[in-house]
Amino acid sequence: MTQPITCIILAAGKGTRMKSRTHKVLHEVGGRSLLGHVLSNAAPLQPAQTVIVVGAGREQVEAAVAGMDGVKTALQEPQNGTGHAVMCARPALETEEGTTLILYGDVPFVPTAIMAQLIEAAAKGPAVLGFEAGNPGAYGRLLVSDTGSLERIVEAKDASADERAITFCNSGIMAVPTQQLFDLLDKVGNDNAAGEYYLTDIVALARERGLPIAALKAAEEDVIGVNSRGDLAAAEAVFQHSKRAEMMASGVTLQAPDSVYFYADTQIAPDVVIEPNVVFGPGVTVESGATVRAFSHLEGCHIDSGATVGPYARLRPGAQIGADAKVGNFVEIKNASLGVGAKASHLSYIGDAEVGDHANIGAGTITCNYDGYFKYRTSIGAHAFIGSNTSLVAPVTVGEGAITGAGSAISQDVEAGALALTRAPQANKPGWAARFMAMMAAKKSKKKSA
Ligand code: UD1
Ligand code: CA
Repeated sequence: MTQPITCIILAAGKGTRMKSRTHKVLHEVGGRSLLGHVLSNAAPLQPAQTVIVVGAGREQVEAAVAGMDGVKTALQEPQNGTGHAVMCARPALETEEGTTLILYGDVPFVPTAIMAQLIEAAAKGPAVLGFEAGNPGAYGRLLVSDTGSLERIVEAKDASADERAITFCNSGIMAVPTQQLFDLLDKVGNDNAAGEYYLTDIVALARERGLPIAALKAAEEDVIGVNSRGDLAAAEAVFQHSKRAEMMASGVTLQAPDSVYFYADTQIAPDVVIEPNVVFGPGVTVESGATVRAFSHLEGCHIDSGATVGPYARLRPGAQIGADAKVGNFVEIKNASLGVGAKASHLSYIGDAEVGDHANIGAGTITCNYDGYFKYRTSIGAHAFIGSNTSLVAPVTVGEGAITGAGSAISQDVEAGALALTRAPQANKPGWAARFMAMMAAKKSKKKSA
């Protein structure tokens, strides 16, 4: 029986090298916190309880997980090592049945499948996640016997030169039957180079008891940790690289993958084309057959099938772009919907508005949605034609098939099929320009010769 699953996430380390007022595990990769990545990768395992062990900055972490079902924090103060940290989680547990998975809040990308394998391997004894380290440095080394079984873990600080030459290292992630975990931890002392209670010591103790011990191997990329801003940038690069690969594998064309930035929750259907230099913020969904052209910035929006967005478009939260609609260059859309086949091709701001099917928004059109105090809506009917440089002073409605004249400031509703025009009549003065130019030229040459 491996059920129920307990997750203990260690996050009490000081995180000094981040040089930040923000708790280390709340720094973001792909717009999601490191802790958020850990929690969302663990979520499919449906843990019965999750305890995050925190020290300084506990309030920040608590606020971040507030309202998450079955997720708690526990305080570790002072930080006396990873074994001590796990013990600090114990009072917060509601059950000690089943298996505990120990994760680090600053190791964001452990795949769900590996977590599941660890839990499965930990039916009767500890299962440790190791990896071949490119640079083993300060990692704990996994000492594996000739028969291939894991004997113990030695911390780099306590290791002999021979042991330090080992490259199979401890990621820190492990699974252990919960009751066994605490039995073993009760026996762990702190007689070592760091004077800490090492979680890793439970392996040798389990070995003495003849318990089965498993060592699984992950790719180094799956267990990268974040300790500095440099590590954070490296983690972002890993995340973006895998997100791009995932998108392309699912049928999305990325013309210049390395220049496209995704958010952790970006959803793009097959047969979407993404041109170079596009940035996705939170909450974007794009349907099949749409094209997002170069240098566009999108967040909180939905793009329906066959629509074209950009180049240089900005879609802000609440933008809903209908099927086959077109959003052209330097168009900003916020909290507004564009109907099927509607077009806003150039230089516009459409905010707090509904634009009907096949309506055409002329260049330079602005919805004047804000009076400095409140926001108001603009409603544009299907097949309406909004002339270039129209100011739509909301709240205002332009009926179906209506036309507004270029340069108009529309502050009253326009009925369907009407033309609305607010321009002053044009006055032409014959010969005026020619006389003006001759006079000015004469003045200028007189000044020069003086
Ligand atoms: C630990 C492992 C080491 C492994 C390495 C992987 C032990 C004794 N050593 O090293 O074998 O190779 O991780 O990175 O377990 N933490 C607490 N409370 C503490 C100490 C640490 O919550 O008292 C948390 C940290 O926030 C961090 C994680 O545990 O998330 C690892 O701590 P860190 O100090 O980086 O690792 P080491 O103990 O050096
Ligand atoms: Ca670390």
